[in-house]
Amino acid sequence: MKRGLFVTVEGTDGCGKTTQITNIVDYLSSLGCRVILTREPGGTRISENIRSIILDPAFTEMHSITELMLYSAARAQLVEQVIRPAIANCETVICDRYIDSFYAYQGYGRGLDMEMLKKITSLAINNTMPDITFFFDLVPEIGLRRRMNAANGDRIENEQMEFHRRVYHGYRQLAKENPERIKTIDASRSVDEVWEDVRRQLDMALGFVREV
Ligand code: TYD
Repeated sequence: MKRGLFVTVEGTDGCGKTTQITNIVDYLSSLGCRVILTREPGGTRISENIRSIILDPAFTEMHSITELMLYSAARAQLVEQVIRPAIANCETVICDRYIDSFYAYQGYGRGLDMEMLKKITSLAINNTMPDITFFFDLVPEIGLRRRMNAANGDRIENEQMEFHRRVYHGYRQLAKENPERIKTIDASRSVDEVWEDVRRQLDMALGFVREV
C-alpha cells in the first residue's frame, strides 16, 4: 500500500538542523509533496505542554526516569495524533528529532538502560519507524558555542559538556549501527555544501538519483 515518506532530523544541540529543515521542507514542497513539519518533544497540544515542562530550566530537580517518561508520553501522542495519520494519507512527514534523540540523550547521555528505552519506545511509536534519518554531525563544542551566543540555554542545553559529548558519541554509534536508515552529514561545512549532501540523499530516498 502506498504511504508517505517519514523523515527525521537529528544532531547535538546547535548542529544547524533548523536551516536544513527549512531547505528540506521547501524542496519537497517544490516537488509537489504535501509536507507536514513537526517536532519533538511537541507537535500536538498535549506534547507541547509536556515540552514546556521538560525544557523548563527551573526544573533542575527532574529525575531521569521522569524525563524518560515525559519524552515518551509526548512521542506517543505525536505518533498517534499526527505522524501515523499523515503518512497513511500519503503526506510527507518531517520530524525535528525523534527516537534517535531519545537513545542518544537518555541512553548515552543519561546512561539509562538501552533495553528499557527500546521497550518504552516500542510502546510509544507503534512500529512507526522513519524511512530516512539525517544526523548532522558536529562536535558539541562548536554547536553549543553557537547556541550559547544566541540565548540562555534550556534545561538540556545547560547540561555539562561531558553530557553533550556522550550524546554526540551516542549519535555516532547509532549511525554506525543503522547505516541504511541514518545518513551522517558532515555539518561542519558551509550551509550550501551541507544542503547539497542532504538533497542528494533525499533524491535517493524518493527513488530518483541525480548525476553528481
Ligand atoms: P530543542 O530546543 O527542540 O532542541 P534543538 O533546537 O537543538 O532541536 O530541545 C529539545 C531538547 O530535548 C534537545 O536538547 C534534545 C532533547 N531531547 C531528549 O533529550 N530526548 C528526546 O527524546 C528528544 C526528542 C529530545
